[in-house]
Amino acid sequence: MSFVHKTQCRICKGEDLVRFLSLGEHPPVDNFTDKAHIENEKRYPLDVYFCRQCNLVQLLDVVTQEELFHQNYAYFSSASAPLVEHFKSYAEDLKKDFLQKNDLVVDIGSNDGILLQFLTGTCRVLGIEPSANVAEAARKKGIETIDGFFTVEMAKNIVAKYGKAKVVTANNVFAHIDDIDEIVSAVQTLLTDDGVFVSESHYLLDLISKREFDTVYHEHLCYYSVKPLMYLFERFGMEVFDVRRVDVHGGSIRVYARKKSGKPHNPSVAMMLQLEEEAGLHGPLRFSGFQKEVDAIRGELVSLVRGFSKEGKTVTAYGAPAKGNTLLNFCGFTAADLKYVTDTTPQKIGLLTPGSHIPVVSPLILTTETPDYILLLAWNYREFILKKEEALRERGAKFIIPIPEVEIV
Ligand code: TYD
Repeated sequence: MSFVHKTQCRICKGEDLVRFLSLGEHPPVDNFTDKAHIENEKRYPLDVYFCRQCNLVQLLDVVTQEELFHQNYAYFSSASAPLVEHFKSYAEDLKKDFLQKNDLVVDIGSNDGILLQFLTGTCRVLGIEPSANVAEAARKKGIETIDGFFTVEMAKNIVAKYGKAKVVTANNVFAHIDDIDEIVSAVQTLLTDDGVFVSESHYLLDLISKREFDTVYHEHLCYYSVKPLMYLFERFGMEVFDVRRVDVHGGSIRVYARKKSGKPHNPSVAMMLQLEEEAGLHGPLRFSGFQKEVDAIRGELVSLVRGFSKEGKTVTAYGAPAKGNTLLNFCGFTAADLKYVTDTTPQKIGLLTPGSHIPVVSPLILTTETPDYILLLAWNYREFILKKEEALRERGAKFIIPIPEVEIV
């Protein structure tokens, strides 16, 4: 069995969990496939729960890490130019706020070194990345990277070899970990007494208010808001002392935590808590209508795309992000609906999207072909992509934007 169904909240261990969204059964979104392997594809439930006790929103069906993050993991962060810019400015913030020459920075889930590449030279850097092929891409850039999952034992080995870290980061990975207690303990082991743990995760408030349901997939076990995170760190003698909203992945939060210090917190922490309270994120009611909102988006998209196909129009898709696969499978789209999907990640080109089996091709095809309609799966880069594809749009191609509401531009 490569998945387990849990009955306890990942943070507070409570059992009063309310299911508010069911997206059906889906294959893991980064398991791009090919014709020879289609038959081996497995699907797992994608249901989202709210914990009445600590208010963490989470998945309870957990697919094994080995099945999600493996040899052929397809997500390379540096394939998206705007994300590289984001991490460049993130690195500047860390240097300005916390780091001095030769301090150690450890990045958990360092991917292809997208953040650490901007800190080498100033600090000592170390990446930790479980997908061997992605870790290798970071090493090629000269970033020392350990293959594997971060644990207390690994933290002890790092301290023995390199000393303690002034800054530990975990970006788009802290929400991916089932045993969060182990990670927080490991972070504590690794940090200096005045060290800082900084994590970026997709923000629940953006997910709910902008109907970003496609960001739900098996890798994302938690959908964080500030309140449950404060509770989590508290349990380990730590404290959240600053929170910033950042405009990546459809809206994220950057959360700063440290060992309890008695020092004042940035007012952002109390402000964010209040914002969440006002938005209804601390009770189940706000979540109860979400399934209907999501079903409505599916209804609109399906009738639009199939309607265009019936009229003989060509419809394709743009970007093959992980979240795109949730959307494609939830809508039941296949290559009969969308002729191909273009993506800039070399490792995805030539493969088929998981579940929906749509061929992934190089964006170069759009220099010679002009589809009538293009479903923008990488909607989080909307402005960047619409600008980049001005020539294609002038030739007559129209983009279908699925999120936060269906729109044709
Ligand atoms: P991204 O939104 O970063 O993440 P996730 O997989 O977590 O949902 O993925 C964006 C995808 O879109 C990635 O596979 C690269 C691709 N892409 C393009 O094909 N063209 C572009 O111009 C950009 C910005 C991204």
